[in-house]
Amino acid sequence: MTPTKNALILRGQTLAFRGDPFLVAPDDAVAYESDGAIFIDDGLIQASGPADAVLAANPGVEIRHTPNHLIMAGFVDCHAHYPQYEIIASYGEQLLEWLNRYTFPAELKFADPDYARRYADAYLDACLANGITTASVYPTVHPQSVDAFFEAADTRGMRMASGKVMMDRNAPPDLCDTPQAGYDEAKALLTKWHDRGRSTYVITPRFAVTSTADQLAAAGALWAEHPTALMQTHVSENHAEIELVASLFPDCPDYVGVYEKFGLIGPGSNFGHAIHLTDREFDLLSDTGSGVSHCPTSNLFLGSGLMNIARMRTPGSSTTVGLATDIGGGTSISMFATMRAAYEVQRLQGYSLDPAKAYYLATVGSAKTLRLDNHIGNIAPGMEADLIVIDPRSTPQISDRMDHVTSIWEALFVQMIMADDRAIAATYIAGKRQHPASV
Ligand code: GUN
Ligand code: ZN
Repeated sequence: MTPTKNALILRGQTLAFRGDPFLVAPDDAVAYESDGAIFIDDGLIQASGPADAVLAANPGVEIRHTPNHLIMAGFVDCHAHYPQYEIIASYGEQLLEWLNRYTFPAELKFADPDYARRYADAYLDACLANGITTASVYPTVHPQSVDAFFEAADTRGMRMASGKVMMDRNAPPDLCDTPQAGYDEAKALLTKWHDRGRSTYVITPRFAVTSTADQLAAAGALWAEHPTALMQTHVSENHAEIELVASLFPDCPDYVGVYEKFGLIGPGSNFGHAIHLTDREFDLLSDTGSGVSHCPTSNLFLGSGLMNIARMRTPGSSTTVGLATDIGGGTSISMFATMRAAYEVQRLQGYSLDPAKAYYLATVGSAKTLRLDNHIGNIAPGMEADLIVIDPRSTPQISDRMDHVTSIWEALFVQMIMADDRAIAATYIAGKRQHPASV
């Protein structure tokens, strides 16, 4: 194939996953090249490997060489709320009070399409600056908040997943739809956006507290009609929430059982939090091949609890796990900060989340949970060229620490504990540099 004028080779240190570090040793899971190269054309990764081989096979292509930087797949944030970008760091409450006091008032403003677009733009620019190239995002109940989000993503060429929040009780009246209106609006949006360009539609009943049985049934019916769409919701985050759900659905054995009853589990489902699960719930998620988003900064900030990744990803479990900022219950849009919190949450439970596992969760794990792992989250021929270039010496303090690092694993660990958006030297979307903006 003759390269097009947009063809590009990124040369530097490269990191890709060739296996699952929850199942094999880190060195077997990861392909690291100290002098690697990625040949990009037509928005896709065409080849990758040692630089000398990639360069020899593709002469005459523009080369961007950053020998001291690390090139890897862009981060995939498995669960975030773009309307909550403006309420990050809202003080002093646990989940249910926090929703009523901060979240719902903020979300009411997204009835205004201009307001929604302004925050969609701000949120997506923050994603680019932090190396997040794909996210599964809750907008609000308003259809215009979905259009604003997908339009803003499309402007940037970003692969994004989202869908109208469905909620018909226990929220301000102006944030509530009805089972029929929620179904109709979601169906219209799904028809408009699912698989259009780089958009994926996600059927999004907020959680069992804010949806009646009729609405959950409508969401389940919509998913059955459109099985290639995704489904996201929240589960088992907070003790008061769990008690409330038990009182609202007394005939269900547990919280996951509510979603089971309405056809809302299985591959393509994405349950946010999943902290206080019973044995039956752990088994049900695994037996159905369901997905989970781990939201560690949010779980610490709201005092929700400690999610058990080791059990979720124990060999034999079929639950997929991704990593998530949960903006704005989460406190940082940086996936470095999110990996650090994930490490700390597991440390508190006596488990060490090594860097191979942490970076895997933040890329391949999230991509698998969103059923997009054939397209994004890794470096391999045919995959979309959503890539980040990491500067491992982004601050004087990190640079001092890096002077004493002797392996790629230590370097990756230092980044996940110490780095922030200053370490994202560049973010490429479908082979085009979007941060800093291309000249
Ligand atoms: N459960 C239901 N809605 C939300 C939300 O917006 N944030 C979090 N953290 N949990 C939820
Ligand atoms: Zn959430």
